[in-house]
Amino acid sequence: MAKTIAIACDHAALDLKGEVIKYLEENGVEYIDYGTYTPDSCNYPDYAEKVCDAVYSGQKELGILICGTGIGMSMAANKCRGIRAALCSDTYSAKFTRLHNDANVLCMGARVLGSGLALEIVDTFINTEFEGGRHQLRVDMVTALENKLRNN
Ligand code: RB5
Repeated sequence: MAKTIAIACDHAALDLKGEVIKYLEENGVEYIDYGTYTPDSCNYPDYAEKVCDAVYSGQKELGILICGTGIGMSMAANKCRGIRAALCSDTYSAKFTRLHNDANVLCMGARVLGSGLALEIVDTFINTEFEGGRHQLRVDMVTALENKLRNN
C-alpha cells in the first residue's frame, strides 16, 4: 500500500471522510486532507479542484472525493486536466476502474454508502494497479479527447 492520497469532501460527507481518514492512518497511508473541515454548507467544486490539482501536479498519486451522492464531485473532477474520476458504489467497479481505466480519483456518495462498504471500496481502489497493455491505448484516447476538447 504505497499510494499517497489527496482527500476532500463537502458538508454532506464530513463523517464518512473522517472514517476514510481513520482507515488511511491505521494502514499507514500518507494523505493530505483538503477539507471541508466543518459541517457548514459549502460547494463541492471547490474541493474537487483542490484534490485534482494535487493529483495532476503529482503531489499525490490518487484522490478521494466524497459528497452526498458522489455525482457532483465526479462531474467537477472530470472537468479537471489529467483527471480520470470514477464514481464507485461497489468494489468490482473500484477494482476495474483501476485495472482498466487507470482512474486516479475515486468519488463516493456518503448518502449512498454505509461506511463499511465505503472503506472496502477505498481499500480496493488504492491497492489495485493499472493493468496497462491494451488498456493503455484506450486511456491515451481519453487523454487525446480531453486535449482535443480543450483546443476547440
Ligand atoms: C449537498 O446537499 C449535495 O448536493 C452534494 O453533497 C452532492 O450530493 C452533489 O452532487
